[in-house]
Amino acid sequence: MDRFLPRKDDYPKEIHKALRHSLFAGGKRIRPYLMVLIYYMYKKQLTPEILMPAAAIELLHTYTLIHDDLPEIDNDDYRRGKKTCHVVFGADIALLAGDSLLIESINMINNTHISVSKRIKLIKDLTAIAGERGLIAGQMQDILSENQECTKNTLEFIHINKTAKLLQLCTRWGAYLADAKAEEIKKMDEFGKKLGLAFQIVDDILDVEGNAETLGKSIGKDEKTRKATYPAVLGMKKSKALAEKYTNEALKILATYGRDAVYLEALTKYLLERKK
Ligand code: IPE
Ligand code: IPE
Ligand code: MG
Ligand code: MG
Ligand code: MG
Repeated sequence: MDRFLPRKDDYPKEIHKALRHSLFAGGKRIRPYLMVLIYYMYKKQLTPEILMPAAAIELLHTYTLIHDDLPEIDNDDYRRGKKTCHVVFGADIALLAGDSLLIESINMINNTHISVSKRIKLIKDLTAIAGERGLIAGQMQDILSENQECTKNTLEFIHINKTAKLLQLCTRWGAYLADAKAEEIKKMDEFGKKLGLAFQIVDDILDVEGNAETLGKSIGKDEKTRKATYPAVLGMKKSKALAEKYTNEALKILATYGRDAVYLEALTKYLLERKK
């Protein structure tokens, strides 16, 4: 990512500084890691062709975080253990930094050394889930559901769209780029969906029970703003049980790979137990 993007002192430097502030603040890098692990599971080796699409997802993800934190959306002051982009650089620059990361994620895929047909397929996939049929639909409904009674269906819609679809894209791409068969890609898609749902439920739980310093972001905000979260709708006990259920379903898919999936299995378990 560092080599791909313009230098931080390039003109006009404010934009490069701002997006680099958020990008290199130290996220968990779960999405690229997932993609690389799945690619390795099928391919039995790592080749550079996986790194650019994996990094592209991290650019896209960081864009969603910068915009999610803006005063007009979640209004958060901390992210990845640092002051948020808009707090340091102002909302105008943070908005543009997010836009840049979104565009650069597509640019990065287009610069990957893979066939043109594969590149087109990746860009098609990415734009399909990042736009108003996916991530933005999830974020939209998340905003609309603030301070409202929220049904389980709406809640699931939000979580699938704002979070799970991006993780699903990573698990699918890992298999696709390793030239796995269509049925394998489908299996990884299903794995990603379970993992993605568990991931956002755990994110909701950590907003209640987590530690702000460990998490690197503020806690207790979802309740304050009456966000549509699993703990708010189902209660804490049922939320934990559901995160565990999705994790177990994800693990069941991995079990069919035996020892080849040990790293993925460890990551899946970690994502349930994580404290950050
Ligand atoms: C936070 O994602 C936003 C959600 C979709 C829940 P992560 O928990 O992966 O954030 P980073 O990348 O580690 O900062
Ligand atoms: C954000 O969900 C999902 C995104 C698409 C960014 P949250 O609003 O719960 O994520 P955090 O808790 O701020 O990381
Ligand atoms: Mg949000
Ligand atoms: Mg948020
Ligand atoms: Mg959250």
